Amino acid sequence: MNDTAVPNDAQNLNGGGLPARMAALDLLVAALGKRAGVDEGLNHPALAALAPRDRAFARALVMATLRRLGAIDNALQARLKKPPPEIVVQILRLAVAQVFVLKTPPHAAVTTAVDMTAKVAAPLKGLVNAVLRGLIREPPELDDPELLAPQWLYMRWQAAFGAEEARALAAVIGQEPGTDLSLKDPSTPAALSDDLEAVVLPGGSLRTERRGDVATWPGFAEGLWWVQDASAAVPARLLAGQPGETALDLCAAPGGKTLQLAAAGASVTALDRSAPRLKRVSENLARLGLEAEIVTADAGSWPDRRTFDAVLLDAPCSATGTFRRHPDALWAARPGDIASLAAVQSRLLDSAARRTKPGGRMVYCVCSLEPEEGEGQVAAFLNRTPGMVLDPVRPGEGGSPAASLKADGTLRILPHHLDGGTDGFYVARFRKAL
Ligand SMILES: C[S@@+](CC[C@H](N)C(=O)[O-])C[C@H]1O[C@@H](n2cnc3c(N)ncnc32)[C@H](O)[C@@H]1O
Repeated sequence: MNDTAVPNDAQNLNGGGLPARMAALDLLVAALGKRAGVDEGLNHPALAALAPRDRAFARALVMATLRRLGAIDNALQARLKKPPPEIVVQILRLAVAQVFVLKTPPHAAVTTAVDMTAKVAAPLKGLVNAVLRGLIREPPELDDPELLAPQWLYMRWQAAFGAEEARALAAVIGQEPGTDLSLKDPSTPAALSDDLEAVVLPGGSLRTERRGDVATWPGFAEGLWWVQDASAAVPARLLAGQPGETALDLCAAPGGKTLQLAAAGASVTALDRSAPRLKRVSENLARLGLEAEIVTADAGSWPDRRTFDAVLLDAPCSATGTFRRHPDALWAARPGDIASLAAVQSRLLDSAARRTKPGGRMVYCVCSLEPEEGEGQVAAFLNRTPGMVLDPVRPGEGGSPAASLKADGTLRILPHHLDGGTDGFYVARFRKAL
């Protein structure tokens, strides 16, 4: 999915705009409050009931709000003596994003915010009106990277990567990403790039600024490509599955990396513990005309005793590196989650190592920016697993950005390492002793 163009006709911003904004309110509450995530929120009944243009506006508004949430809250706090009820805060957040990010005419944003407040907390209409008018008189700073992430995460990034890198990576939070595509036949990216108005990235992914429903784009129905962030495409390239080899994808759903391994000709087993998410893997494989063995199981306790030439562990993680498409992940993350996810990753790493053939390769990756899920995880794994050694990534290998390569040959891909941004990932490749 990607953000769709924001319509700005008068009908949409005024009369037709209240239902769209009420739906945006539901979606924002679902994305933040119930921790359901923006993707799940997109199936919200309030959105489904809207006309396509209003739905596009509601989605764009929520994404704009989430991308500037920290800075918007900072601006609101400076004008609120005591915090109003949560629902009023959400209305104010949406209105600020309209005025200063989407550039909606201020009167439309204020009028609709007051109308929304009338529906849910009528006595606070005056407060909403006054706060918004104050901000319009003295526009707030919404672009400061230090304000875009929750402070506890920003401080962790400063400690892990230094002040300059933390600022540069956080600046990407505010940017709307393009859409990256992986090709079934990666040897001919130029053939499709014109049709998709795309540029070819190092490694062969295509990047397009097109908007709208990807299912209508050239080559989708023919199964020539799938949506996959440029960084997310690196780990499977490093594993380099070959025809005649067996490959195990231990946390496979929704299947981007399984598709890469199958397209490379390996005989792939795609395992995930979530049956509904595996259904998406099967659908993706069918559209691409590819095959894999599908297994619903826990990757740690799967009783199968086979070993594989190539094993990929794209472990469950805090997903803080995916903030370009999931800015809600930053606000859903809690410090305690990182420690409990690290414990799961450690258990799954041991399982992945057991399932790798002697002489075989294993790639571990997480779409997290947190060292406990990346560097720390790999150091502890190497300490307790004498049969595994790092197989250093070569400069530029698999389309990896030069700035991401660490001295030990692992990759710490930060979101600003690619022009136009990319998902943050940590990637390590191992070889098992014979
Ligand atoms: C980061 S996502 C994988 C993305 C996928 N590799 C791709 O490229 O499309 C992590 C996946 O791990 C799965 N998962 C979490 N815990 C698991 C476990 N114990 N065993 C197997 N799968 C698990 C989740 O259901 C989720 O689909």
